[in-house]
Amino acid sequence: MAQLNLCSLLLVASFALVLAIHLSAAHPRKLMKSTKIPSLNEVKGYLQAHGYMERPEDRPTGTSGDSLMIESSLKPAIRMYQEWNHLEVTGKLNSETIARMMTPRCGMPDIIRIPDKGVHHESKPGKFHVVAHYSFKNMNPWSQRQLTSNFMSTIPSVPIRDLRAICTRAFQHWAAVSPFRFREARQGEVANIKIGFYTRDHGDGYPIDGPGHTWAHAFAPRDGRLHCDGSENWSISTPTTYQTDLESVTLHEIGHTLGLNHSQDPDAVMYAYLNAGVTKRQLQQDDITRD
Ligand SMILES: *[C@@H]1O[C@H](CO)[C@@H](O)[C@H](O)[C@H]1NC(C)=O
Ligand SMILES: *[C@@H]1O[C@H](CO)[C@@H](O)[C@H](O)[C@H]1NC(C)=O
Ligand SMILES: [Zn+2]
Ligand SMILES: [Zn+2]
Repeated sequence: MAQLNLCSLLLVASFALVLAIHLSAAHPRKLMKSTKIPSLNEVKGYLQAHGYMERPEDRPTGTSGDSLMIESSLKPAIRMYQEWNHLEVTGKLNSETIARMMTPRCGMPDIIRIPDKGVHHESKPGKFHVVAHYSFKNMNPWSQRQLTSNFMSTIPSVPIRDLRAICTRAFQHWAAVSPFRFREARQGEVANIKIGFYTRDHGDGYPIDGPGHTWAHAFAPRDGRLHCDGSENWSISTPTTYQTDLESVTLHEIGHTLGLNHSQDPDAVMYAYLNAGVTKRQLQQDDITRD
């Protein structure tokens, strides 16, 4: 029975993939993205990375029946993904769901899992809820207004003076709507927000995936590390359809370093997805007051 369910899921998945590729033929950009078909393992990894499914490392040690567990949690995880992403909630990997999963995005989770408690639950039964209520007025997760930043590593394709100019503009947007003020750390001073470009494993337990898929991640206060994927095609001015806009991405990631979680509003800077060629350089109402 369990075997059968997994098989039918795989069948649905492969059918959906064929469909996805077929549909994307009308969009050359998407076709290029879709040529790499995600395996069921990749889908699982994606759902785990973004908080929809328990990661093996979060599970109590000594639990057995791994494949059974994965199978039984995959469908609810897909449902949760569809619900959070305002897609039709079917629990199936349909083309719409796969297309969303293949959209370039931020590496941080959408759902924050609290160890031992699973996902935060609202009082409404059957509804998951993410603690994303946050207003600068009510809390300062840094306990200081003046925050410093520095550049830990750069890549040749983004000269430091362009990176500095882009980050300065992004910080100015946040300074305008928050109690925070930003300046670059002095030589030898420990910065609050540490900005750099990395590839693959780089020591924080969140390896960077290479070109496409995720473009950056950043940690909440008072960690402040902000890591961009060194293998993306970064744009420092107006992005072409093959480039990711660095200013839009730094604006988003700085939001995480100030304590914001992902927004479900597609117009918000804190929305998790951003396609190549798109700019989103203005904070929206949802980024500023979410309540
Ligand atoms: C983001 O989610 C985590 C976990 O639920 C929570 O501790 C944190 O306060 C949230 N941040 C904001 C700004 O809501
Ligand atoms: C980077 O740009 C080249 C074309 O200049 C394109 O072929 C490649 O797919 C792009 N990579 C990504 C990750 O967008
Ligand atoms: Zn993010
Ligand atoms: Zn990192």
